[in-house]
Amino acid sequence: MKKFYITTPIYYVNDIPHVGHAYTTIAADVMARYKRVKGYDVFFLTGTDEHGQKIEKAARSMGLAPKELADKVVVNFKKLWERLGIGYSHFIRTTDFYHEEGVSRIFEMLYKKGDIYLGEYEGWYCVPCETFWAESQLGSGNVCPDCGRPVEKLKEKSYFFRLSAYQDRLLEFYEKNPDFVRPQGRMNEIVSFVKRGLEDISVSRTTFKWGIPVPFDKSHVIYVWFDALFNYVTGIGYGWDEEKFKKYWPADIHFIGKDILRFHAIYWPAFLMACGLEPPRRIFAHGWWTVEGRKMSKSLRNIVDPNKLIDQFGADVVRYFLMREVPFGLDGDFSHKALVTRINSELANDLGNLFHRVIAMTERYFKGTVPPYFEGSNEVRTKVNETLREYEEAMENQAFSRALEATFNLVRYANRYVDTKAPWELYKSGKLEELGEVLYELLEIMRITAILCYPFMPLKSREMFKKLGVDKVEPEEEDFNWGGLKGGERVAKGDPLFVRVDEEEVLGKVLKEIEDAEKEEKEEMEEFVSIEDFVKLKLVVAEVIEAERVKNSSKLIKLILNIGNERRTVVAGIGGSYEPSELVGKKVIYFSNLKPKKIRGIESQGMILAAGNEERIYLPILPEDTPVGSPVK
Ligand code: MSP
Repeated sequence: MKKFYITTPIYYVNDIPHVGHAYTTIAADVMARYKRVKGYDVFFLTGTDEHGQKIEKAARSMGLAPKELADKVVVNFKKLWERLGIGYSHFIRTTDFYHEEGVSRIFEMLYKKGDIYLGEYEGWYCVPCETFWAESQLGSGNVCPDCGRPVEKLKEKSYFFRLSAYQDRLLEFYEKNPDFVRPQGRMNEIVSFVKRGLEDISVSRTTFKWGIPVPFDKSHVIYVWFDALFNYVTGIGYGWDEEKFKKYWPADIHFIGKDILRFHAIYWPAFLMACGLEPPRRIFAHGWWTVEGRKMSKSLRNIVDPNKLIDQFGADVVRYFLMREVPFGLDGDFSHKALVTRINSELANDLGNLFHRVIAMTERYFKGTVPPYFEGSNEVRTKVNETLREYEEAMENQAFSRALEATFNLVRYANRYVDTKAPWELYKSGKLEELGEVLYELLEIMRITAILCYPFMPLKSREMFKKLGVDKVEPEEEDFNWGGLKGGERVAKGDPLFVRVDEEEVLGKVLKEIEDAEKEEKEEMEEFVSIEDFVKLKLVVAEVIEAERVKNSSKLIKLILNIGNERRTVVAGIGGSYEPSELVGKKVIYFSNLKPKKIRGIESQGMILAAGNEERIYLPILPEDTPVGSPVK
């Protein structure tokens, strides 16, 4: 039997599952189900990423041990996957014994081989992203180039992975496997990144404890990304079930979000090469969701909380919408208006209606039994074959929305076929044989539609089969063939497949939720600032070394500040109260890590502390002997 091994990222447990997590996982489930239908022995792995500083910090702020936090959050993930009908083969937790053991042994093996060595690291570290950055990579104002948050300077002894030694092998590998990363544009980004040169990467930490200890040096824990990536092999038996591992490795596809592509397309194959293992066959990096046109903030996320969406619309509708709305690979927007339109026009009107009317006619004209087998007209058979071809081609390329488009084109075709053939006329004029043939064709199209819908909407697909008098939970490859209905099956109208939703009601509610979310965010910003947020601001003592008025402005003064190791430019609105000449030589308090802003064409790199109002501004001037660059506490 052919095998197919598919994975999702393993999700961090400092957060409750949101629609972004659900998206990747649903996509992987769709692909897994499709491949099972196609006769593959599928292994589908998902799970949680439970080590690292981020989890340790989150747990501490909640007064929990990291493992306690993980145990709590993991339940939310598992429950959600169950509600969404995710049929994974195994759920891995990086705190599972076999995984910790496996990673620990791999680390030791690579150390003995010389691919891992002890060195010293000095660099900028972004805690939320668990990533080190070189100074040259930082955004202006010393922020993380990925998430925009301030980074911390860290100096520590660290074990390094000799990534630089794999640059050529990686490039050679990309060259031979141009489909390794999908979509294509992302492959190009990776190739040019690697061509610019790879540095060795730090793969251990000493500044916190929550991780897998380096087996031969317990003062270090293994870097969370080194730990996490290896889940893809330990999860299928590497180190504990060689037979299973050999059967499924290499992975046929890793589904991930575009945010974590570098780890998967550069580090991961290099780690595997070092272990003497084959790289995965494909990495598909999908796009990012916004909500109602806005970036997904914490409170906006609640509006698209997957559990709430399931309560409101049902799991299969959520699955359908996420797969249909945006081509897999591109960024997209979750808009409730689009959701309502898809439910009402595609699901209820096109698909639901087809089932309703054709089954009603079968009941009326054939006492509720499927008419005898008919090989089908040329036109219908051609349309069905074309649809199957398009669908398969799309599914093999993870073009899920295109596969659904092909499916729904067939549904709409069938609805038109009812209108043009007008079975009621055939009945009236006594053409019963032709009537039987037309209804058979339509019912057969509906059966095939149920198969095509299966990976996306497994429960609805089962309902569709039931309505056609077929008892099927999981279709098989041969079910694609024309003639699955033998004739004589008992159809049943039952409840409507999809219920229309009231657009005004849904949109009204969402609008209100967005307003509340925005209000909440504003209030949060206005009310209290947590110590964690406050300490992100870096205030230092600066000496004004130059000051001049900004042209054509009575209020703005351009200052050049000395902050010890560098010079900074700041545009300050103090010109109504101070003359530039009286500022030179003064020691002021400077916010050194604010995002730079262009003011009158000048890049202002932060602000200085001031008090006062419209009429007069007062600068807190420090004693002359205050050391420049010293932090303000
Ligand atoms: N733990 C790492 C992955 C390790 S894999 C060896 C991680 N976890 S995460 O919890 O942050 O989840 C990241 C994944 O969630 C993304 O890659 C993506 O699959 C999904 N998404 C999170 N937010 C998303 C959106 N706003 N939109 C779409 N998907 C996003 O990174």
